[in-house]
Amino acid sequence: MTKTVAIVTGASQGIGRATAVRLAQDFSALVLVARNRTKLEETASTVREAGSEALVIDLDLAEPTAAATVVQQTLSAFGRIDALVNIAGAVPGLDIFQMTDEQWHAGLELKLHGARRLTIQAWDVLKATRGAVVFMSGNAAVTPKAAAAAVGAINACIEALAKAFAERGIVDDVQVNSVSPGAIMTDRRTAMLQKAAEAKKIDIEEAKQGFLKQAAIIRFGTAEEIAEVVAFAISPAAHWMTGTVLRMDGGEVKSV
Ligand SMILES: NC(=O)c1ccc[n+]([C@@H]2O[C@H](COP(=O)([O-])OP(=O)(O)OC[C@H]3O[C@@H](n4cnc5c(N)ncnc54)[C@H](OP(=O)(O)O)[C@@H]3O)[C@@H](O)[C@H]2O)c1
Repeated sequence: MTKTVAIVTGASQGIGRATAVRLAQDFSALVLVARNRTKLEETASTVREAGSEALVIDLDLAEPTAAATVVQQTLSAFGRIDALVNIAGAVPGLDIFQMTDEQWHAGLELKLHGARRLTIQAWDVLKATRGAVVFMSGNAAVTPKAAAAAVGAINACIEALAKAFAERGIVDDVQVNSVSPGAIMTDRRTAMLQKAAEAKKIDIEEAKQGFLKQAAIIRFGTAEEIAEVVAFAISPAAHWMTGTVLRMDGGEVKSV
């Protein structure tokens, strides 16, 4: 049987970890990328228990040389790439009037340029396998807020970047889409709610309920639910779906 290989960035925790574990059902090898080696090894154990091989690559994707390292190490270990899932992101949720240039640059360097460089490095190999790419955006791309301006702006950039790669992918036979989650209960979301709770001098439970009421949704999503959307987006059944944004948000975005 031919080996199939998927790279997942941000695989040390949250949506990236859940996605890597889910993809172990569909791919024979997973390449797990983030900075925290201990947490990546935990993901790797779960992936191996599910029957796939796992390669851990711990590095900072904001570094310009990181993308080439990921692709070289993947090809040395497995010889091919069938799917690239760009999930790593750490855009600070700061007010538009408080965020410094350095904080904007840091958010862009990782989430936008890290994903862009990795996609470019992997492109020729993906062409050879008729592979697939997913970028992770987020609801804030279409609902930007002053209190977390960079989250909206950078996710909008991600969707535009994915669309541009998708256009080239039509001729190169590489399928490219974005997945846009709503509010997913991960460490990142907990930290955001904690910050909101402190600012309003309420407890975190109240902050959670307040968020759900304001967003007019019934519950937060899970990382595993987003992992299922990614798995579909890169499955053979979805190969003709390209250049689109797949949203899973419990109905938070009310506009068409
Ligand atoms: N949670 C939500 O509600 C939500 C909603 C919409 C969109 N999203 C998007 O979904 C993605 C994942 O979110 P999450 O909630 O799962 O976040 P998370 O729990 O904070 O995980 C972020 C991941 O990115 C990795 N990462 C951070 N900085 C990195 C760097 N410099 N180099 C390499 N890897 C780095 C982290 O690993 P290390 O720390 O080990 O490097 C971690 O694996 C993000 O792009 C986020 O914007 C999340």
